[in-house]
Amino acid sequence: MDLAGQVALVTGGASGLGLASTAALINRGATVFVADLPTAGRGAITDLGAHFLAANVLDEEQLAAALDAAGEAGPLRGVVHTAGRGGDRLRILDRERNPAPLDAFADMVRTNLFGTYNVLRLCAARMAGNDELPEGSRGAFVLTASVAAFDGQVGQTSYTASKAAVHGITLVAARDLASWGIRVNTIAPGLFDTPMLARLRDDIREGLAQSVPYPRRLGSPAEYGRLAVELLENDYLNGETIRLDGSIRMAPR
Ligand SMILES: NC(=O)c1ccc[n+]([C@@H]2O[C@H](COP(=O)([O-])OP(=O)(O)OC[C@H]3O[C@@H](n4cnc5c(N)ncnc54)[C@H](O)[C@@H]3O)[C@@H](O)[C@H]2O)c1
Repeated sequence: MDLAGQVALVTGGASGLGLASTAALINRGATVFVADLPTAGRGAITDLGAHFLAANVLDEEQLAAALDAAGEAGPLRGVVHTAGRGGDRLRILDRERNPAPLDAFADMVRTNLFGTYNVLRLCAARMAGNDELPEGSRGAFVLTASVAAFDGQVGQTSYTASKAAVHGITLVAARDLASWGIRVNTIAPGLFDTPMLARLRDDIREGLAQSVPYPRRLGSPAEYGRLAVELLENDYLNGETIRLDGSIRMAPR
């Protein structure tokens, strides 16, 4: 799929990996709509020439309204879903043997997994109505998991559960949507230099960077954006989760 002149949606595009994906898509000549929380900063998005749509990915009405607005510009061809949140760091049992709260687990899964499924189903319903492009495609998705899907650390049960599920549904989604000419792939990022990691102390971030075999640094969001564009454009890539991680395998803690 050639993205030039096509409409793309980036969820969570106001920050980090989503913002970099927005920039990469604009560079390919796409018209980009960003769906993010109403509280998210919009300056960087509008500076790039993208359009901001306030929508919580868990809210069907808000997402539908965002898709209606994006649809005015043309058929939706590409979705990069990066809206999500980081880990709780809650062990199953605390030091006093108390079980971790179920609500915290449910909240994480709701945002990262239900949010992904909501975006997938509502956007796919729009894409399936598109005319086929010359190569037969109607559109493509990029979802976002994490290396925690495969090597989650101590205290990451909720985050790992949510991200492993995103990896798990990738192939099923590709199979479900194959007859519509819609592809689905997932990126499992390692450690990226985004506001999510900026919340950590400098020495902790430096330690994380040093734990990456090569390149020995945090990933740049632009590197995520490049891969997201490739996954949308490469018509033979489907049903795959790609680790983008400098070959890191996370230690137990
Ligand atoms: N940064 C990393 O190292 C890293 C590593 C692995 C996976 N990830 C995953 O990548 C994705 C993006 O992470 P990031 O580092 O860019 O984070 P970020 O915090 O910089 O950006 C996340 C964006 O998602 C938006 N968002 C959150 N919940 C939303 C909702 N319900 N509806 C709409 N928008 C919502 C936020 O407002 C924010 O703009 C997340 O799913 C995260 O789990 C990040």
